[in-house]
Amino acid sequence: MSLVILKEIGKDFNTGVNTISPLNSINLEIKKNDKLIIYGKSGSGKTTLLNILSTLEIPSKGSMVFSNEPIESLSDKDLSNLRLNDIGVVFQSHHLLDEFSLYENIILPGSINQDLDKDFAHFLIEKLKISDRKNHLPDQLSGGERQRCAIARALINKPKLLVMDEPTGDLDRNTSDEVMELIDNVFNEIDIAVVIATHDENLKFMPKSKYLLEQGKLNLIQG
Ligand SMILES: Nc1ncnc2c1ncn2[C@@H]1O[C@H](COP(=O)(O)OP(=O)(O)OP(=O)(O)O)[C@@H](O)[C@H]1O
Ligand SMILES: [Mg+2]
Repeated sequence: MSLVILKEIGKDFNTGVNTISPLNSINLEIKKNDKLIIYGKSGSGKTTLLNILSTLEIPSKGSMVFSNEPIESLSDKDLSNLRLNDIGVVFQSHHLLDEFSLYENIILPGSINQDLDKDFAHFLIEKLKISDRKNHLPDQLSGGERQRCAIARALINKPKLLVMDEPTGDLDRNTSDEVMELIDNVFNEIDIAVVIATHDENLKFMPKSKYLLEQGKLNLIQG
């Protein structure tokens, strides 16, 4: 069953001086539990595409359907509920809240919708091997620990779709491999579709499909 369908999506940014169009004809179907990687050079539009998938950015043309609902038919309230409950995002820079501990950062989205599953929070913390860092503030954590915290936070409300933008971009090879292995263990135990954007061709992750984003289009390269 389709979770997300993108049809002929385009995005133009008007800077006042000129128009930049990183995406011009994106077609993509994401099924439940799919695992995809999107490769592309810096500036090819990966973050723009993930922002559209996570409904943070509105496309300039084309249509998007999430769980059978056309996105354009949703009210602002529906959209914020969708973002809170159904879509998890790990940003290119992880945006943890500095004055909150690792644990508080992770449970924040669960507390907002007043439906926090504490057992699941502990499951994620154990699986991602950060239980001994629960009370640390973000600036007391290593890059890999901060990234694992951002991933747990993105998963806490059990979204149907997780988008990760360069999830290991700031990490060295070994730490990147460790983090990806831990995340993969979590993915094997929950139902979730995952889209990862990266330019790391050695990312330790076996997706179902691989795409290359180039000249505003997505080309299937494997899967
Ligand atoms: N808000 C914006 N206003 C104007 N141009 C933008 C805006 N956001 C992105 N762009 C431009 O759109 C293009 C795609 O940017 P995007 O961040 O999606 O690329 P990327 O593939 O994620 O790059 P990287 O690998 O460096 O993260 C770039 O040329 C960028 O300058
Ligand atoms: Mg980017």
